[in-house]
Amino acid sequence: MEIGVGICGLGTVGSATFNLIRDNADEITRKTGEVIKVVQVGCRRDPPDCDLSSVDVTRDIFDVVKNPDVSIVIELIGGTDPALELIKQAIANKKHVVTANKALLALHGDEIFAMAHEAGVFVKFEAAIAGGIPLVKAIREGLVSNRIEWLAGIINGTSNYILSEMEVAGNRSFDEVLVEAQELGYAEADPTFDVEGIDAAHKLTILASVAFGIPLKFEATYTEGISHITPDDIRFASELGYRIKHLGITRKTLNGVELRVHPTLVEKEQMLAQIDGVMNAVMVGSSPAGATMYYGAGAGGGPTASAVVADVVDVVRTLEGGGEVANLGFVPDAIEELPILKMSDITSCYYLKLKVLDKPGVMARISTILSQHNISIEALIQKDARSGEAPIAIITNEIMERSLDETINELQELDEVIDRVVHIRVQAL
Ligand code: HSE
Repeated sequence: MEIGVGICGLGTVGSATFNLIRDNADEITRKTGEVIKVVQVGCRRDPPDCDLSSVDVTRDIFDVVKNPDVSIVIELIGGTDPALELIKQAIANKKHVVTANKALLALHGDEIFAMAHEAGVFVKFEAAIAGGIPLVKAIREGLVSNRIEWLAGIINGTSNYILSEMEVAGNRSFDEVLVEAQELGYAEADPTFDVEGIDAAHKLTILASVAFGIPLKFEATYTEGISHITPDDIRFASELGYRIKHLGITRKTLNGVELRVHPTLVEKEQMLAQIDGVMNAVMVGSSPAGATMYYGAGAGGGPTASAVVADVVDVVRTLEGGGEVANLGFVPDAIEELPILKMSDITSCYYLKLKVLDKPGVMARISTILSQHNISIEALIQKDARSGEAPIAIITNEIMERSLDETINELQELDEVIDRVVHIRVQAL
């Protein structure tokens, strides 16, 4: 079956979504048994990085929600006006809606979801929260049997970047790092939504509704940004064993729901304290699963498009009569035999530990063997020699394991190597 999709808005996320649906069409069909086709896009101007030659392009986004060939409308224009009206018309025309519009849902979600319920269509919004992290799915599906008790996370990458940089740099002020973040393209020209916690509050509002099944309470969300944090705060927190993180926190208590966004001291050992740069991470406390954590890119074209298309697939899979049974996540006929690599065929960087006799020329002989196998040394430590023996640790460049095995055999033959050569794979993630 072919499912017609219309995209409204071809900015960074819209373009990435258009390209993703085209580039991974075969993979999506292997998993769903359906063909997802973009039949129309609505955009003010053609974006430079999309080939729109095979698709109907309209400058009036409202054409898309009227198009009888469009079953799913992807709204990626952002803001309220005209996005709210667009989504309302899509629902009225019985189109399913996929959106990344967190502000719109936080403020008008109750009305939108009520309309969708009445019309019997889906409104999906994985991309509205934490970009490429499948967080809504994790809560709604993976943790479906649990009672969600609390949720805490870094859900604004710009603020996290600024706090991380203020800490790394020691005594750089918020203002100085903000300018740098703007130059790097991480922060918007008007950074208010990000640094004053409003963007995080939009996301937290939606998350709390997904977690606890409550109406969207943006107005009731306590919202405090990071613009008042100083290098002194960061230093003092550090001396006390903490890092300052901008967290969105929601918790269900006997008395009600906490809903708050603010800078927070987090113990350095905690996983959330170790999330740096523009990355997002959210911990979900649930019963009986306990605490689980989700980490990834919270923004950007590719990650956000990944979430958008996941929602499109979700709709397709749920549509009556649509979607084949795919127990492994792929439809049975699309399961394909692929060779599983032998360990000798994998590539990796390696840590090597050698215990050698403390004699002149040993290091040269080791280096020669490594270079004969085209192995480069990325790092090397030689500890002080004791009783005529010296331990050496080497990190290699990325090589094939077969080559490493041959190298180790030769190293082992050296008279000066007096113990088994230890190797451990180094994994860059
Ligand atoms: N501006 C947001 C952030 C991404 O910095 O995380 C989009 O919500």
